[in-house]
Amino acid sequence: MMRSSDQQAFRGATPVEQGNPADDLRMFRRCLSQYGTGVAIVTTSDGTSRFAVTVNSFSSLSLDPPLLLWSIDRKSRSFDAFSSCEHFAVNILSSEQIELSRHFSSKVTDKFANVDWIPGRFGSPLLSGCIARFECSAEARHDGGDHLILIGRVQQLERYDGMPLIFSQGQYSIPLEHPDAPGEPAAMAAEKPNTLANNVLQLIFNAHHALSEAFEEHRRAEGVSIAVARVLATVYGHPGIKVDGIAAQTYLGQRDVEDAVVELARKSLLVHAQDGGMRLTPSGVALREAIGERWIAFQNARLESIPSSDISVLMRTLTRLIDPAAQERAATAAVSGG
Ligand SMILES: Cc1cc2nc3c(=O)[nH]c(=O)nc-3n(C[C@H](O)[C@H](O)[C@H](O)COP(=O)(O)O)c2cc1C
Repeated sequence: MMRSSDQQAFRGATPVEQGNPADDLRMFRRCLSQYGTGVAIVTTSDGTSRFAVTVNSFSSLSLDPPLLLWSIDRKSRSFDAFSSCEHFAVNILSSEQIELSRHFSSKVTDKFANVDWIPGRFGSPLLSGCIARFECSAEARHDGGDHLILIGRVQQLERYDGMPLIFSQGQYSIPLEHPDAPGEPAAMAAEKPNTLANNVLQLIFNAHHALSEAFEEHRRAEGVSIAVARVLATVYGHPGIKVDGIAAQTYLGQRDVEDAVVELARKSLLVHAQDGGMRLTPSGVALREAIGERWIAFQNARLESIPSSDISVLMRTLTRLIDPAAQERAATAAVSGG
């Protein structure tokens, strides 16, 4: 059997972190988040009130009989409802439903106010815009430490076109076609403007991911993870911002923002105000600026071989995609000399 040091040599890599999860729960969570999942909202109703939680513990379990499972935190306000309900529905989120995921993972009082839903066959709310929905009867429940495992028997399902929302490494993302996947020959793809290979938005996302990954060595050199770097940048740009605001400005999940905030505070890079707002300490500002300088040098190196006319077109196009009215405003300002 291989010893752990042999395994490291075999993999040719040193672990970023390792140890006993009991010593560091955040490390445990970060390690678990290396396993990418989809995102679902599980709902139920007791006939009077409706309950829902955003989950990524959802998993398929059995085809015959048709079973699925998920787990609920014992601290959830909906715990009692889910630990005794006879039915629940699993709504699988599309890549366009980050806001809905955030909404149903928040602590708002009425999660269903201003949300588009209809009651399912057994009364559990079905949310609109999802890419699949499973209406289940509660088949079994099992103890799962600080969570309770629920097994559902699928009584009714629906599937829709669309791309799933992904949650991996603590952040929301969309599924990318693997560059090594045996794709269609380029000529065939060119004839089909709607295939992923020709999907402009997918390319933009791919470019963002590729650059962010390549920049990782610079973040490491400054001793921060991607989540910590994003939170640092967001608090730098918005002094006084709160956790909810940071989650809304980044693709990070609420818990990962909270973890990053704890780490930044522990390293005296960030301080809390009484109202829950946060700001960076002078050493936090210095670290953010050092990362910023690395980013600019990295970007310049990456763009060096691309003609400046191509870069101008790219920037104009991206600006228009972000804000379609931007070019019109710029033209009006130019005419009026503004
Ligand atoms: C991506 C994501 C996945 C989550 N997965 C779970 C989960 O599997 N089980 C769970 O109990 N909570 C999970 N949560 C947290 C709950 O959504 C959140 O704690 C809950 O909705 C808070 O409201 P409540 O007290 O009304 O339940 C997740 C949150 C997010 C953003």
